[in-house]
Amino acid sequence: SNTILTDGSGRKHNYLRISLLEKCNLRCTYCMPADGIALSPKASLMTADEIFAIAQTFVENGVDKIRLTGGEPLLRKDFPEIVSRLSSLNISLSMTTNGILIDRHIEVLKQFKVNKINLSLDTLIASKFHSITLRNQFEKVIDNLHLLLNNDFQVKVNVVLIKGFNDNEIIDFVKLTQFLPISVRFIEFMPFAGNEWDRSKMVSQNEILSQVEDAFSSDEIQKLEDEKNFTARTYKIKGFQGNFGIISSITNPFCDSCNRIRLTANGKIKNCLFSNAETDLLAAFRNGESLTDLISQSIQNKKKVRAGMVTIDEMDDPAKHFDNRSMIAIGG
Ligand code: GTP
Ligand code: 5AD
Ligand code: SF4
Repeated sequence: SNTILTDGSGRKHNYLRISLLEKCNLRCTYCMPADGIALSPKASLMTADEIFAIAQTFVENGVDKIRLTGGEPLLRKDFPEIVSRLSSLNISLSMTTNGILIDRHIEVLKQFKVNKINLSLDTLIASKFHSITLRNQFEKVIDNLHLLLNNDFQVKVNVVLIKGFNDNEIIDFVKLTQFLPISVRFIEFMPFAGNEWDRSKMVSQNEILSQVEDAFSSDEIQKLEDEKNFTARTYKIKGFQGNFGIISSITNPFCDSCNRIRLTANGKIKNCLFSNAETDLLAAFRNGESLTDLISQSIQNKKKVRAGMVTIDEMDDPAKHFDNRSMIAIGG
C-alpha cells in the first residue's frame, strides 16, 4: 500500500533520501558556511539499527528507492553495516558522494549493489577544485570516477554552476560525455543557510542551453526522454556515449512530479528540500511510538511547490528560507 506516502496532490513518495551524517571531508562553499555548522550531538544521530528500522517502515509503506547522502556518506565508520542491512530491503540503493573515499569502499558498494552513484564534481581544473572545496583532492576524485566506470557503476556527475566561476566549463563537461558513459547534470545554485546565494550567482537553465546551442548544431542536440520523477531534464549530443541534464530547481521547478522524502542524520523528516518544518521521527522511535501517523502528517502538510516559495522573488527573500538548514545537513 502507498496511502500514507501519497499527498493531497496525488504525489506518491516512493523515494527516500537518508543523510548518514553532517560531516564532510571537503568544504564546498555552496554547501556549508565558511565557519562550519553546529553539529548535532552524536547521541542524536541515528545509529545503524535505527536507520534500518526507520527505513523499513518507509519500505513497508511503499518506498522502493533509497539514496544515501551526507555530509559525505562514506565518512560513516559503520557504512558497510548500514548498506549491508539496507540491502536486505526490497529497494534500489544509491548514493550521492564527493568520490574521495570510493576506492576504499568499492568492494562494499559492489557487494551490496549500490550501483548507482552520483558524484559531485564542479570543475575539471585542479586549481579551481581547490578554490571551491578548499582541499586538494581533484586527482583522487577523477581516479575514482574512472574506477567506478571500470567497475560498471552507473555514474551521474553533479555540477553546481556558479556565475563567473565554472560557467565557462559547461561545454568541457558536455564534451566529457563524448567518451565517458556518464550523465552530467548542471545544477542551478540554490539558497541554503550560510551559502551566500544570490540570484546573480546562479546560472539558469536558459543560459546553459544557450551555451550548448552555440557550441553544437541543432541537429546534434537531442532531447532525451526524462526519467520518471526526474530532477534533470536531459539531452544528448548525437554519437556521444553519455548525456547531460539540467536541474533547474530555481527557474523551472519540477515539484509536480516530486516523489522525494528526506530523513536527516538526526532522524527528522523533511517533506521538501526547502521546508524547515521538520518532524522528529527518531524521537518517536526512541519513545516506542508509532511512526506512520507522523510520516502521514508530514506528507499531508507538503506544499505543492518548494515549501511554498512559488516565485523566484520568494526564493530571493531571505526571510523565506535562511532559517532552513545548511545543505551539508540536508544532503541535497
Ligand atoms: P537521482 O536519484 O539519480 O535522480 O538523483 P537526484 O538528482 O535525485 O539526487 P542527487 O543527490 O544527485 O542531487 C542532485 C541535485 O538535485 C542536488 O542539487 C539536489 O539538491 C537536487 N535535488 C535532488 N532531489 C531534489 C528535489 O526533490 N528537489 C529539488 N528541488 N532538488 C533536488
Ligand atoms: N545548490 C545546488 N546544489 C547543491 N548541492 C550542494 N549544495 C547545493 C546548492 N547550494 C549539490 C551537491 C551534491 C548534491 C547532493 O547537492 O553538488 O552533488
Ligand atoms: Fe519536491 Fe520540494 Fe524539490 Fe519541489 S523543491 S521537487 S516539492 S523536494
